[in-house]
Amino acid sequence: MGIKTQPYKTHDAMAQAVADRIIALVRTKPDAVIGLATGSTPEAVYAKLVEAFEAAKDSDAPLDFSQVTFFALDEYVNLPLHHPESYHYYLWSKLLGPIDADPAKVHIPHGTAENLDEACQRYEAALAKAGGVDLWIVGMGHNGHIAFNEPGTPRDSRTHVVPLTDATRQANARFFGGEKQNTPSHALTVGLGTLKEHAKEVAFMVNGEAKAGMLARVLHGGFNAKIPATLLQGMNVTGYFDEAALSQTRQK
Ligand code: F6R
Repeated sequence: MGIKTQPYKTHDAMAQAVADRIIALVRTKPDAVIGLATGSTPEAVYAKLVEAFEAAKDSDAPLDFSQVTFFALDEYVNLPLHHPESYHYYLWSKLLGPIDADPAKVHIPHGTAENLDEACQRYEAALAKAGGVDLWIVGMGHNGHIAFNEPGTPRDSRTHVVPLTDATRQANARFFGGEKQNTPSHALTVGLGTLKEHAKEVAFMVNGEAKAGMLARVLHGGFNAKIPATLLQGMNVTGYFDEAALSQTRQK
């Protein structure tokens, strides 16, 4: 348990390490269960997986993702699935489509469901049925959120509907024409308790100087409900960090 720290020089190098870990997992366990995050942090991981999938296609050892089950951490509420900023669209266009994932094995919280509570329950049931997530990629927001579990979220929370904080809407505004009021106000998110119960291992990715102060707090303190990422301390976590993200940790 605890966060094993893996420092990398660059964001690209840490993304390569996570991609290599996933490729090794799928080669040894073709029906692995993999958890995915969205956002800018893991984008390069997905590009590298697509590259590896293409490169291996006509080789003696193709990379087959068709038996892999995928779970996404979260999704905006009321954003059409094919909206370019929906997490559904992000994951299908950047990763799942290009690697020929099986749609029946992909679970993304259903943000446009008529009954959002039922959508959360369906997601929880699918997770329970999958028998654990072998490796879950998790990123962190500037305010320490993981998935859309904002500061103050109870550590035993289950998958739920969440109003997004001003800080998170502001951070996401760049994807919605720059205006905070154009960003979705709610999301569905895996709960902290759900993540803790089901993730057998987490690949915790943080890059960039802007998150260095928050990362230092996550690595050095105990669980603090004001910093949801501190939940990870009690889990089996490998931290993939670039030097910029660790710049304030080293000075301690
Ligand atoms: C996305 C997610 C979020 C992001 C976080 C960091 O599925 O769960 O918690 O990981 O907001 O976002 P980026 O990577 O864009 O800095």
